[in-house]
Amino acid sequence: MKKIIIITGVAGMVGSNLIEKYINKNVIIVGIDNLKLGKFKFIKHFLNKKNFFFYRIDLSKKIKNTRISKILKTNYLSEVWHLAANSDIQQGANNNKVDTKDTYMTTIRTLSLIKNYLKKDTKFIFSSSSAIYGNIRKSIVENHKPKKPVSNYGIMKLKSEKYIENFSKKKSLKAYIFRFPNVVGKNLTHGIIFDFINKIKRNQNILNVLGNGNQQKPYSDVSEIIRCMIYIKNLSFKNYVNYFNIGTRDKGIKVKEIVNIFIKNLNFKITPVYQNKKKGWKGDVINYKYSTKKINRLGFNFKLNSKEVIEKTVKNYLKKVY
Ligand SMILES: NC(=O)c1ccc[n+]([C@@H]2O[C@H](COP(=O)([O-])OP(=O)(O)OC[C@H]3O[C@@H](n4cnc5c(N)ncnc54)[C@H](O)[C@@H]3O)[C@@H](O)[C@H]2O)c1
Repeated sequence: MKKIIIITGVAGMVGSNLIEKYINKNVIIVGIDNLKLGKFKFIKHFLNKKNFFFYRIDLSKKIKNTRISKILKTNYLSEVWHLAANSDIQQGANNNKVDTKDTYMTTIRTLSLIKNYLKKDTKFIFSSSSAIYGNIRKSIVENHKPKKPVSNYGIMKLKSEKYIENFSKKKSLKAYIFRFPNVVGKNLTHGIIFDFINKIKRNQNILNVLGNGNQQKPYSDVSEIIRCMIYIKNLSFKNYVNYFNIGTRDKGIKVKEIVNIFIKNLNFKITPVYQNKKKGWKGDVINYKYSTKKINRLGFNFKLNSKEVIEKTVKNYLKKVY
């Protein structure tokens, strides 16, 4: 019997970076993605490895896959990384159904897929988001109440957390719920850097920015996010469900500063055009700051601050494009 690691959303940014940590280990990796937002090119080079099995499946629907069931039946389910979700927050803001389906239903279906194969020490790792908190002025701690998400994405992540919590208690499953800040790095599929690069590719003169540029948010590098989750999921806790704010503890970086990093690193002139509104889109949380005391006490500290993370990512992407 071999250990199995399931990664949902494997072709997305976090999933495709996470797989690198497991591919050379003595484990079977079952990767699932519908390739709606993720890209096949991010994972195709892993397909020649004998321990990686990829299934293109819409996880919001009832899953009937006999091959996955067979792998689960004959091996030892060690970890489930549930990363599949709608990451296109703006699309979710325009159509409520998107997050109900891709952020919430994917959680229900993933738990339903694994429920008959849980072992005593199976771990469930979930990528939640700062969006579950809503607009909070002070430094946010994990048990902050009330949580008032302002986007349907945030509401569906919070509902997913609750569903996982109930399921875990009922089934004695250890769950690690990580609330991400904004994450950037290799294999971007969305977000401000992705958006700016695409806009600059289309028009090298004008950069249309969403909002007035004063939105200020923390950013972390995907490789540090993954290191942090692996570090914490290797610790044991007495509660079945544990929640963690992960990311840098700084105040974040303003959109205007990100624009300036682009201007500084481009070898041609580009003029930013800002909108006369505070929010970039409906449900945008324009300012938040995490308390990361809990993970710091457990011994994990993020090395790069938001500005360093953005500079690193912008330089890496511009090098590839120009
Ligand atoms: N990147 C961030 O800034 C950020 C911030 C907070 C939380 N998160 C969460 O972290 C996780 C990973 O984010 P990411 O940046 O890698 O996003 P991503 O979009 O790159 O990856 C998500 C993957 O899920 C897949 N997916 C979506 N709906 C699906 C469905 N119905 N069936 C099967 N697959 C489906 C997509 O195709 C995509 O490959 C997500 O849950 C996201 O909500 C990300």
